[in-house]
Amino acid sequence: MEIAVQTANPYTVYVERGAAKRLDELCLGYHKVCLVVDQNVYDLYSEELPSLTSETYTFVLPSGESNKNLTQYARLLSYLAANRFDRKDALVALGGGVTGDLTGFAAATYMRGIDWIGVPTTLLSMVDSSVGGKTAVDLAEGKNLVGAFWQPKAVLIDPDYLVSLPEAERKNGMGEVIKYACLMGGDAGKAILAGELPTDRLIAACVQYKADVVKQDELDKGVRATLNLGHTLGHAIEQLSAYSVPHGTAVAMGLGIVARSAYDKGRLNKRDFEAIEIALEELCVPQVPYTIPQLCRQALHDKKVEGSTLHLIDIFGLGDCRIVDIPADRLEDYLC
Ligand SMILES: NC(=O)c1ccc[n+]([C@@H]2O[C@H](COP(=O)([O-])OP(=O)(O)OC[C@H]3O[C@@H](n4cnc5c(N)ncnc54)[C@H](O)[C@@H]3O)[C@@H](O)[C@H]2O)c1
Repeated sequence: MEIAVQTANPYTVYVERGAAKRLDELCLGYHKVCLVVDQNVYDLYSEELPSLTSETYTFVLPSGESNKNLTQYARLLSYLAANRFDRKDALVALGGGVTGDLTGFAAATYMRGIDWIGVPTTLLSMVDSSVGGKTAVDLAEGKNLVGAFWQPKAVLIDPDYLVSLPEAERKNGMGEVIKYACLMGGDAGKAILAGELPTDRLIAACVQYKADVVKQDELDKGVRATLNLGHTLGHAIEQLSAYSVPHGTAVAMGLGIVARSAYDKGRLNKRDFEAIEIALEELCVPQVPYTIPQLCRQALHDKKVEGSTLHLIDIFGLGDCRIVDIPADRLEDYLC
């Protein structure tokens, strides 16, 4: 499947088994290519890294969110400079969202911008982070605080990489998948929630949805905010747990709270609420370990609070999620 992402610099997302084989052809125009590979992915796939006609360098990035930082970013830039990479060369990110975000940001900034291609290897990065051009690293003060919009030249999604993905990481990705199912609604959304779509079609449906939104709002000034469904409370859960609850799981928990509130207050009908609830139960999303007041207090520190208004993404039905502006001190009342 090929999905066009219509940004100022358009590109194609390929979803197919063996997608990484396309790398050689895509990289033919570059003199040098640096494969930036997640350590765990390298350990699993070092025998079968994509082989390229271009002069190829391999940079192994230590695994985990704690390495999406300025130190590893600077290490990568120095590696590129030491090997005399220039603007006609390119980077390839082979790994999950951590590898994609850091590689994309290095590509955005090295010599004021070079090309990069994404080869996501986790479910979360396949359905979400590899598409849309948001790149970043974290600071000690918070996640994704240094970044840039920098679209890849192509994204190659090979579902076969998921065979080695630990179950906890699959579930983490499914949190974002359920979010997309709620956003898209319709037959595809319902089929995803009911667990009826094969993995490649599920990935393609999420990517297509994200591509449509990014086309309307590449720089995240309006409708793209709806992709944050579940994120306001999800971020609060991540922060309160000192990031021991992973992102996708926290999003699923946040989405569950918003859906429950919408149902209890008559904004969401029973049939749609139950479809979401069953999908979350199937995922065995743990009980949220915090109270709504605790989450609301934490959410007020969230970057989506502008002045005294909080922009919450609420769910009025499958396929009907909207940005609701809530006075910051009324969030708890809105939800309870
Ligand atoms: N740019 C965006 O739009 C966007 C959107 C959502 C999330 N993100 C970012 O994505 C990151 C999370 O991404 P993630 O969940 O992919 O995390 P990740 O990159 O840390 O990968 C999760 C784990 O899976 C391992 N792994 C990766 N591929 C594997 C494979 N095929 N087999 C076995 N193990 C494998 C990794 O080594 C790591 O331990 C966060 O930093 C988040 O901020 C970015």
